[in-house]
Amino acid sequence: MTADLPTYRVATIPGDGVGPEVVAAARRVVDAAASQFAFAIDWSEHLAGGAAIDAYGVSIRDADVAACGAADAILLGAVGGPKWSDPSATVRPEQALFALRGGLGLFANLRPVKVHPALQGASPLRAELLAGVDMMIVRELTGGVYFGERTEPSGEPGARTALDTLPYAEYEIARIVRLAFELARTRRGRVTQVDKANVLATSRLWRRVTDEIALDYPDVRLDHQLVDSCAMLLIRRPAAFDVIVTENLFGDILSDEAAVLAGSLGVLPSASLGARRTEHGTFGLYEPIHGSAPDIADRDIADPIGTILSAAMLLRTSLGRSDAADAVEAAVGGALDAGWRTADLADPTDQADGLVVVGTTAFATAVIEALQPVFQATAPAVA
Ligand code: IPM
Ligand code: MG
Repeated sequence: MTADLPTYRVATIPGDGVGPEVVAAARRVVDAAASQFAFAIDWSEHLAGGAAIDAYGVSIRDADVAACGAADAILLGAVGGPKWSDPSATVRPEQALFALRGGLGLFANLRPVKVHPALQGASPLRAELLAGVDMMIVRELTGGVYFGERTEPSGEPGARTALDTLPYAEYEIARIVRLAFELARTRRGRVTQVDKANVLATSRLWRRVTDEIALDYPDVRLDHQLVDSCAMLLIRRPAAFDVIVTENLFGDILSDEAAVLAGSLGVLPSASLGARRTEHGTFGLYEPIHGSAPDIADRDIADPIGTILSAAMLLRTSLGRSDAADAVEAAVGGALDAGWRTADLADPTDQADGLVVVGTTAFATAVIEALQPVFQATAPAVA
């Protein structure tokens, strides 16, 4: 570490499956951006998910949650895999996510969905539907059915029961709805609040609280949508959405759906934020929205874009380095424009258009080269 450079502390949680590969790729890109903009990252690494279950018998140790919480930000790959997915197991990899989200108070999950023009062909939707898509899904992350009390299945076969509960308190709704309105002010000035108010009492509370908060934001246009109809409109007219704010479970489902617009689940980033401010910005956890993809793990073929773009959000929001964040985002666009693709984005019918399919490492190298256009770009080694 060079003592005279501004230095930021980033905790990494590579996790399972493709997690370590995509985190390694994003770290290389961030280090390259850091040297370009004259700062340094002090990286630490922590086990979580299946890797922690194997090493310690728990999905994440309390000491690791605390150490991650003491950093300026966390970069996470993905957790989980078939080895640890026995439904009757009491220790599961996903519990690490809930320990981090709940334990560190990361109640706001931001999932931006944009369609890079070069990737319009990678989506199964028609290009004219995709033009202008630029939405921000704001998912409540520490409440609702994910954190409500539950009773695991019990009883005799044929008469078994199980119970999940979906609690929300006004303050949990109000803080995320306010954040959605604030974000809308920096964007196109529209908030769509999504719920199932024709059925759920909690949804009716979301509507009431949202309508009250909207009075403080007369410059923002609010509409309410039922989640089933929203699911349809996301595909029918995706460009009409600006900020979508919704509860934990609906946000989980709608964000995977919206990923289809962007061409691949592999390209979408996310930020999970709470109230804690650091010296440089807002503390947060950043991760791609895709999972651990065990079927393609350890083959250097996973798409690192979602993690690289998550790292860009980290640079901007937690480290206050918009300079490097903008450069990394532009470099991802540059690598795509130059024709580099990982396998998930390679439409076999496009091969004639000068696209080059490369692996995780080589794609990250292409991003790094696009970051430093002053140096003569050389072709990355094809994996
Ligand atoms: C996500 C994931 C997690 C969630 C799973 C792995 C528990 O799908 O971050 O979207 O449902 O929150
Ligand atoms: Mg999900």
